[in-house]
Amino acid sequence: MLREMPLREAKAALRAEMRAVRKARGPLERAAAGEAAAARLAALLDQLPAGPVALFHALPEEIDTAPAFRVVAARGRSVLLPRQAGKNRALEFHAFRPGDPLLPGPYGVLEPIAAAPRLEPAVLVLPLLAFDRAGGRLGYGAGFYDRTIRELHARGRRPPVIGFAFSFQEVARVPTGPCDARLECVVTEREVIRCAAAAVEAADPASER
Ligand SMILES: Nc1ncnc2c1ncn2[C@@H]1O[C@H](COP(=O)(O)OP(=O)(O)OP(=O)(O)O)[C@@H](O)[C@H]1O
Ligand SMILES: [Mg+2]
Repeated sequence: MLREMPLREAKAALRAEMRAVRKARGPLERAAAGEAAAARLAALLDQLPAGPVALFHALPEEIDTAPAFRVVAARGRSVLLPRQAGKNRALEFHAFRPGDPLLPGPYGVLEPIAAAPRLEPAVLVLPLLAFDRAGGRLGYGAGFYDRTIRELHARGRRPPVIGFAFSFQEVARVPTGPCDARLECVVTEREVIRCAAAAVEAADPASER
């Protein structure tokens, strides 16, 4: 408990800071960065396991992911989008094709409908608020992706976990705890960062509560 508070506070402070930094950027930058990062993702995908790629539907302040949808589809891979199955549950991934219906989920994020085919991701591309070069990731604070990656690992699945973000979201060190899944790579408009400490196991979630 005593150890938990500083971590929670450090994450909250960095979230607030990164939200403000991102808010200061405009839609043109978001679109241009999304194109450049998608081209880098395309080259990276050729080195990653074949199969469906889980992407995310970007929020207005996130790097644009629409070009990434196109490069994944152009490579003949299915695009998957996450769906919240419940508050403390892992995300579930459903196939998405242009024109398929999307409905706002519990946090207003657009999600595929439950009837869309459910598939296992071969590659997981995920949003973040901040990252570091050791694979530390700060998400939005609900632990959904941490829980999802842990659940995949428990079932023996190890899709590469790739962050997709603006380069300015990099920080020297993200405050992380034992529950935080690490990134293998981060794709930005500038580069593909191969994270140093990838594949570090997430530990018992009870120790972070
Ligand atoms: N595998 C897990 N099982 C149970 N609870 C977890 C697990 N992983 C994370 N949590 C809990 O989720 C809460 C939020 O985690 P954290 O602050 O790391 O979110 P985040 O990584 O920013 O969010 P997200 O993964 O949704 O982007 C924490 O209280 C944490 O204990
Ligand atoms: Mg986390």
